Amino acid sequence: MARILLGVCGGIAAYKALEAVRLATKAGHSVRVVQTPTSERFVGGASFEAITGAPVLTSEFAPDPARGAFPGDPPPQHDPISHLALVGNADVFLIAPASANTLAKLAGGFADNLLTSAALAARCPLIVAPAMNDAMWEHPATQTNLATLRARGVHVVDPGVGQLASKGEHGVGRLAEPAELLAAVERVLGVDADLAGLRVLVTAGGTREPIDSVRFVGNRSSGRMGFALAERAAARGAAVTVLAANVALPHAPGIAYREVETAAQLAAACAHEFPRCDVLLMAAAVADFRPVAPAATKIKKDADAPDSIALERTPDILAGLAQQRTLRQTVVGFAAEHGDGALDYARGKLARKRLDAIVVNDVSQPGIGFDTPDNAVTIVTPERERPLSRAPKGEIAAAILDEVVRLRAIRDADGTSGSPAGRAARV
Ligand code: PMT
Repeated sequence: MARILLGVCGGIAAYKALEAVRLATKAGHSVRVVQTPTSERFVGGASFEAITGAPVLTSEFAPDPARGAFPGDPPPQHDPISHLALVGNADVFLIAPASANTLAKLAGGFADNLLTSAALAARCPLIVAPAMNDAMWEHPATQTNLATLRARGVHVVDPGVGQLASKGEHGVGRLAEPAELLAAVERVLGVDADLAGLRVLVTAGGTREPIDSVRFVGNRSSGRMGFALAERAAARGAAVTVLAANVALPHAPGIAYREVETAAQLAAACAHEFPRCDVLLMAAAVADFRPVAPAATKIKKDADAPDSIALERTPDILAGLAQQRTLRQTVVGFAAEHGDGALDYARGKLARKRLDAIVVNDVSQPGIGFDTPDNAVTIVTPERERPLSRAPKGEIAAAILDEVVRLRAIRDADGTSGSPAGRAARV
């Protein structure tokens, strides 16, 4: 099990760090805590000490009775330098909540307290879980600082949407839930196998609908989002099958890939695979229309060229599968929307297609969506919406899988799929 160094910054969300520590120690990890001086105004060190069984440090100059050792490890003979010893011994450094001020210091390389000095000296993976008021979160300075940290390899656990600290305020900025913080830590450490025993079906890429033997109606999906989901799910222990529509990306070992070209072929492959899967992640961009009468040979441009091509609707594969889903299955759709009203359209698709969750990307934003390494999405479920700011598709995939795990935990707790769609599903 891991040695987790937890850095706690000032903010009302500091109380959630206590629960994160409780979950981590319960899972068998050993935890040390460093606090910023401001954070002590919200939560006292005695509470963390009681849960971790180890001293809490706030200053570089205060002696560490444990000499930088983690619970269960023998302390060294000599007195070490606290900020170096703690990160030197840690497998991972999680800063939660990470305030806007501390994020700015980390981006700038400042080392003006024990927490920021330790972060600057950290060679272990660094995870930040921001929490702040929505105006501070949305400020370009904060977003630029996060982009800088991400570019340096820092992992970011995005905040959620909901009620904020100041009375009556609602928006983005709530610290991720303690279980999500622990999941992020375990994911970074590669010790999570929370999808073990599950069969995950992923659709990826874009279908091509033939006009004739050489031309087609298609879209710009590269398959990156779907492949990232598949690879992350496999890394977390799932048995993964990918239905890949015209994807030119390398295949990862341990994942089963089936190639399809058209919406009809994808529908047939889904019909075959869906009954035996536990989780469907429908990331493929499926053509909504196809030529009614594709030509068997190449249409010549001079003679016989048609003035127009008659199109017909393709069946909605996802909606059809959701109709047949059973209680044990979790069904996640995607929605590629353009501009204003993206979230409203996605909410409509969630309800109409009877899904557990829908992942909406606003493809009018530059640098995300189709054929890009990054994405920015909102995961919409019937009871909450979780915006994820721009990040590599692997990180977005990890957060989507966290949501799947959460929905399935709700289902296991109350015997439903965790959503009204699931409650209506066949047992
Ligand atoms: O592949 P990348 O380059 O990485 O790009 C990723 C992506 C932008 C393609 C991906 O993030 C995404 O948004 N995929 C869904 C695109 C899409 O088809 O959205 P839609 O709003 O048209 O469809 C909604 C849902 O219904 C989707 O889950 C789609 O798979 C499904 N659908 C749509 C039409 C249809 N006939 N049958 C379906 O099952």
